[in-house]
Amino acid sequence: MTSRKHAERLDAADPLAHKRNAFDLPKGVIYLDGNSLGPLTHAARAALAQTIDVEWAQGLIGSWNTAGWVDLPRRVGARIAPLIGAGPDDVICTDGTSLNLFKVLSMALDLRPQRMRVISERHNFPTDLYVAEQAVQRAGHGQSLTRIDSPDEIDGLIVTADVKMTP
Ligand SMILES: Cc1ncc(COP(=O)(O)O)c(C=O)c1O
Repeated sequence: MTSRKHAERLDAADPLAHKRNAFDLPKGVIYLDGNSLGPLTHAARAALAQTIDVEWAQGLIGSWNTAGWVDLPRRVGARIAPLIGAGPDDVICTDGTSLNLFKVLSMALDLRPQRMRVISERHNFPTDLYVAEQAVQRAGHGQSLTRIDSPDEIDGLIVTADVKMTP
């Protein structure tokens, strides 16, 4: 049974405990929603201030080159790459999830217009499904979005040749 004492013992032995000080969280808040919007770090606050007050305000349009903005998608991608087991040139960091999903799906549908079905789990993040719906509609060759309840259904659907996968 988990007890407060046990949790406190684990906390005391946590090698990452000092990382708590890197974050600027309101007092008393325990924040676990890191997948969607992580908490602000002191380093992020300083980097934003530098970007706004120096690179944007002083450097103006020159900052695309002098501050390296133009290379950021590749540089950030290269730092994410080892975290996901990819090579340094395999990852690019652009836009948000919805825009990227729309671009990937639209491209896939355009490349293989003869494939008629996109499959996604019904309980995926709602905006992912809206994006998939629109990408399918835009493709305009009569493709459709199939919503499934469980990943177990995938095998039975992908035996046909007209299927693409969404995340
Ligand atoms: C799985 C998933 N899809 C889509 C989104 C929406 O992301 P964006 O606002 O970048 O389009 C989020 C945001 O947290 C997400 O977690």
